[in-house]
Amino acid sequence: MDIAVDPDEPAPVSEAPGPGAEEFRGAMAALPTSVSIVTTRDAGGVDHGFTAGSVVSASLEPPLVLVCLSRTAECHGAFASSPFFAVSVARYEHAELARRFAAKGTDKFAEGRFRRTESGLLTMEDARLLLECRVVGRHHVGDHDVFIGRVLRTRVGAGEALVFVDRGFTKTAPSTW
Ligand SMILES: Cc1cc2nc3c(=O)[nH]c(=O)nc-3n(C[C@H](O)[C@H](O)[C@H](O)COP(=O)(O)O)c2cc1C
Repeated sequence: MDIAVDPDEPAPVSEAPGPGAEEFRGAMAALPTSVSIVTTRDAGGVDHGFTAGSVVSASLEPPLVLVCLSRTAECHGAFASSPFFAVSVARYEHAELARRFAAKGTDKFAEGRFRRTESGLLTMEDARLLLECRVVGRHHVGDHDVFIGRVLRTRVGAGEALVFVDRGFTKTAPSTW
């Protein structure tokens, strides 16, 4: 069952107003995330990308991932009109690259080792993990859009994954599981 609730609708019963944007951003800084460079190419053949901490696995069969992109991002139009996106999960050595892809108005692909995929997207050659995806869903959620991608191909790399927590970069420790 789909439940669609407009997040701006007043709640039917009284509830706490919830945190403001700054408080929420500060609170979410305590949530460690992976760091990915998510890329696509527009109809004119121009490459676009942004740094994302919101990539998660959404379904195993079929294999689906999701990523959330702000509708105010300059690259939003390209992602909203492209049938494909790629997720290059960053290694610890990619912190500088991740900063560049999070900065507006930079030539994001100027440095770094990129490789073009069969679906025509630029991806990181030495990513910790690469996911090539076909868009199967786009949903407005608050001020972001959630993009759902069917995973067409995966490539697992080596090295320590880049982690973002407390507004800074760190890396994964050796597994103890
Ligand atoms: C570690 C990290 C994670 C981020 N995760 C996201 C994300 O999941 N979604 C998003 O819209 N922006 C995210 N951002 C911010 C975007 O990378 C940044 O606003 C980017 O410049 C947007 O693309 P634009 O240059 O095309 O506007 C993140 C930034 C950092 C540093």
